[in-house]
Amino acid sequence: MPVTYNETSGQFRLRAGSTDYILKTAPCGYLAHIWFGKALPDEDLTYLLRLDENPWTPEVNNRDRGTYMDTLPFEYPCFGIGDYRDHAFKISAPDGTSTCDLRYKSHRIFSGKPALEGMPATFATEQSPCETLEITLEDKHAGLEATLVYTAFEKLDAVTRSVRIKNVGTEPCKLTRVFSACVEFDHSDFDMITLNGSWARERAPERCRLHHGKQSVDSMRGESSHQNNPFAALCEHKADEDSGEVFGFNFVYSGNFKVQAEVTQHKKTRLLMGINDTDFSWKLDPGETFTAPEVVMVHSSEGLGAMSRTFHDLYRQNLIRGEYKDKRRPILINNWEATYFGFNTEKLIDIAREASKLGIEMLVMDDGWFGHRDNDSSSLGDWYVYEEKLGTSLKYLVDEVNKLGMKFGIWFEPEMISPDSDLYRAHPDWAIQVKGRELTRSRDQYVLDYSRKDVRDHVFSMMKNILDNANIEYIKWDMNRQLTEVGSAQLPADRQQELWHRYVLGVYELMGRLTTEYPHILLENCSGGGARFDPGMLYYSPQIWCSDDSDAIERLKIQYGTSMCYPCSAMGAHVSDCPNHIVGRNTPFATRGHVALVGTFGYELDVTRIPQEDRDAIPAQIEEFKKYNSLVRTGDQYRIGNIFEDNSFDAFMFVAKDKSEALFEFVQVLARPNQRSRRIKLKGLDPDACYYAEDKPELKLSGEALMSCGINVGGLWGDYQSKLIHFIRA
Ligand code: GLA
Repeated sequence: MPVTYNETSGQFRLRAGSTDYILKTAPCGYLAHIWFGKALPDEDLTYLLRLDENPWTPEVNNRDRGTYMDTLPFEYPCFGIGDYRDHAFKISAPDGTSTCDLRYKSHRIFSGKPALEGMPATFATEQSPCETLEITLEDKHAGLEATLVYTAFEKLDAVTRSVRIKNVGTEPCKLTRVFSACVEFDHSDFDMITLNGSWARERAPERCRLHHGKQSVDSMRGESSHQNNPFAALCEHKADEDSGEVFGFNFVYSGNFKVQAEVTQHKKTRLLMGINDTDFSWKLDPGETFTAPEVVMVHSSEGLGAMSRTFHDLYRQNLIRGEYKDKRRPILINNWEATYFGFNTEKLIDIAREASKLGIEMLVMDDGWFGHRDNDSSSLGDWYVYEEKLGTSLKYLVDEVNKLGMKFGIWFEPEMISPDSDLYRAHPDWAIQVKGRELTRSRDQYVLDYSRKDVRDHVFSMMKNILDNANIEYIKWDMNRQLTEVGSAQLPADRQQELWHRYVLGVYELMGRLTTEYPHILLENCSGGGARFDPGMLYYSPQIWCSDDSDAIERLKIQYGTSMCYPCSAMGAHVSDCPNHIVGRNTPFATRGHVALVGTFGYELDVTRIPQEDRDAIPAQIEEFKKYNSLVRTGDQYRIGNIFEDNSFDAFMFVAKDKSEALFEFVQVLARPNQRSRRIKLKGLDPDACYYAEDKPELKLSGEALMSCGINVGGLWGDYQSKLIHFIRA
């Protein structure tokens, strides 16, 4: 039973794998947090609340209620009632005041997990079941009910949380902050790890010691962003890849977010995560419900690596959906870096012809096939084929590619509108805007108002027209600018601050429609590279383009950081041309292949123009990808090197769940003169089993020796050289 209620102790316990999350109703009906950490015997742990240590309990001494409110570890702290730590929930009541006060009303426990209306969320599967606890709190004065939804996954150390707020009163109430989770820790001896970056260098981990006050990362860009990912981990100072206690938090949301750790006066830590409340409010009419997105919370007693593997398992089993969930993805070739905007049907068929001979399985036509788009200054929103440029119909192109035995994929940027487009000329009010203000252009484009159903319907019908008229089997859904002058021509003044969230809901609605109506289409998300690499997007697309930076060495960093909470099976990764278009670096073709094959794998180059020797290497590279894909996609990932700490090499492994085989990858970033080989300790093997490297079957060693003593990695000459070693259980 993952979720239990003990009537004697009054404790709710969520048991997730070997983790417990325990809470109970404290005096005055406040929901208090007792424990998040390793699983414990079922006993009364109320003493952890320190209720007897002080005369502050209101029932005993109401004179010091303020102190009680300011120290109780709350599950869902409200603004205005004496808890001066940062709050999870705040309102603007009809009388203009902000105080709210949520207390226990009821609870229920049930198996499985309800979907979040209109939003992505993890779900139960047969293979990975879960149970849910819903606790409803009420504020009679405000006429509000808050239902806190907790789910414990039986086999994984993962608990999820979300919140539903219902107006049970008679007047509208404005919600001005509805965070999804608050977690209290009884100490502050933590480091906080966040994933930060910029375009072309997304998700670099940064680790800082917590200190008094508030430390946060957030996004106000309308998307989860290149700059900060909606992820944070709190870990013991001594925690590393393989040991120490770690708590990971990831927000299943693709818009503005905030994650904040606060160290309080008594050196406790309060972690908050939710929709960023800057410029947020939501008017809740009587009878209406507002649902806050889901937070995934993972606990690990074995360091960061185990935390990551739990996230990977959860997302692979309980978040990613669709036909490709458990399948190898088609090996694609994308023409973006091959041609940019300069292509036509003939050129694309040339690429496809050559690619098909080499074993590539799908051609993706990137930006520039619609409206009159020859560069990035026009036509977004005009999703009809630019036949003058292509020289043929789309159907002809797709049929020809299909005849070569290849699938066909296409690029859209459905959320955007170019000022120079028929769509904008017909519907200038469809862009997000503040009436009367000049709109900021970014990449010469505006953002469509996805809070509007008419806008979404129109975009969908245009996309449908394309998809129904040619055999399209893959879509790259791009999003290339952030939001400014946020206003909707359709929303009333008192709802304008809902637009940020309504926009995201609109995106989800359209993606949901697309994936429901075209279940066979493989959807890959992209946002100027990896600006929307978040669990919300993974619910709709089983893969996301990791970064516009496809340089193999930069990708080691980006894929390392991304792997903190996202599985490799979801990382869009391609072999591209050299010198690399972003950093100008030359790396061996083999290394580019090795780095890309731990992602979804594909090519992003003009295969008709690359050096013959590279072209000749492609069939074997593809075979190598195919050989290891199942292991990479379904196995456990172990990070060995940390390229942020030692940039001379990187190394990582994928180990089959049954420990029968493992793939070890090593990249020598900088060659070292006159050194012995590197001794590298493997991870994740069965210590009691014997393994051999596939190319050296005569040498069998125990998993114990391979992990405790390590292997000698040498023989690589030059910078950026790499090798794969396949270990097989004897
Ligand atoms: C973004 C994407 C690229 C490419 C271009 C096309 O930058 O990240 O992969 O699709 O848009 O304009």
